[in-house]
Amino acid sequence: MQTEQALHETIRSYYRDSWRDYRIVWCNRKNLAIHLGLWDSHTRTHAQSLINSNRVIAERAGLGPGQLVLDAGCGVGGTALWVAEHYGVDVEGITIVPEQVQYARAQAAHRRLPGARFSKQDYLRTEFADGSFDVAYALESACYSLDKRRFLTEMFRVLKPGGRLVMLDFFQISRPLGPAEEELQRSWTSGTAIPHLAGVDDFPEWVREAGFRDVVIEDLTAQVVRSCRRGHRILKTFTRFEPALKLLGLRSVFYGDHAAPVLDGYRSLRQGLWRYGLVVAHKPEDSSSPAGRDATTEASSTGQSHDPAAGSGAEG
Ligand SMILES: C[S@@+](CC[C@H](N)C(=O)[O-])C[C@H]1O[C@@H](n2cnc3c(N)ncnc32)[C@H](O)[C@@H]1O
Repeated sequence: MQTEQALHETIRSYYRDSWRDYRIVWCNRKNLAIHLGLWDSHTRTHAQSLINSNRVIAERAGLGPGQLVLDAGCGVGGTALWVAEHYGVDVEGITIVPEQVQYARAQAAHRRLPGARFSKQDYLRTEFADGSFDVAYALESACYSLDKRRFLTEMFRVLKPGGRLVMLDFFQISRPLGPAEEELQRSWTSGTAIPHLAGVDDFPEWVREAGFRDVVIEDLTAQVVRSCRRGHRILKTFTRFEPALKLLGLRSVFYGDHAAPVLDGYRSLRQGLWRYGLVVAHKPEDSSSPAGRDATTEASSTGQSHDPAAGSGAEG
């Protein structure tokens, strides 16, 4: 059984090792996106598709000036910087990878966006007080948690009554997988540092159990197929030229050790083993943070506290 500490180390190594590759083949200097792109009939380029994901999050969250927003699992800050610039919100971006925090902070300073702030924190136990945020969003990041329900409880706690949670993420299909399918699925998730996926049928119930209401889950799998195909095509090409790339000093894990898992991710998609979903959920206006209280009780029973004054679980 993987511990949280071991998982965090795996995630840090993965992002340290693969960042250069993401920069070369995936995101550009402006969007800094470490996520799949969403394609619709108006989308013309890969870069537009990456921004579409930000826009879907922003629109479904109802972002507007004056709001305080949490980006849970912010990567190098691409989405947080984009929403700060385009929607006039203040954003707290958190990630467990220290290099991502440094990079995102430098970008916020460079772009003169003081409302986009970044810190190294675990989204399962943040340092933020109860009811801090108007919106919390998680773009392909909640899948990295060992305990998805704990993630939801923490998001519920830090949201204000009436606040919204928006997520884009990968989900496991509901039917049991055969051994070969299981192996294929495990190959791409563990190879990209994801411990496991939440079940597409279980997740809505977990969101409600955390205290959220008006839970909407939309299947956007069809909109990411093109993005996945692009990743697959590029990696196939790069792995073919890997020996030459190595000679040029351009090879890193993405093209080497991590190429197979990403290729398996596409195979797994083609076999229909996972879905890509949008989740929108509301914390009720009249909520006095019932799940927050549960979380505190649960946290105290494990010796942790959500009271920042009592020493948060924030790392670093
Ligand atoms: C696939 S990247 C997505 C980054 C960003 N949302 C984007 O779309 O560009 C997943 C992110 O989740 C972060 N993450 C994973 N586990 C985390 C945790 N326990 N607490 C905070 N962030 C976490 C990783 O460090 C990484 O930044």
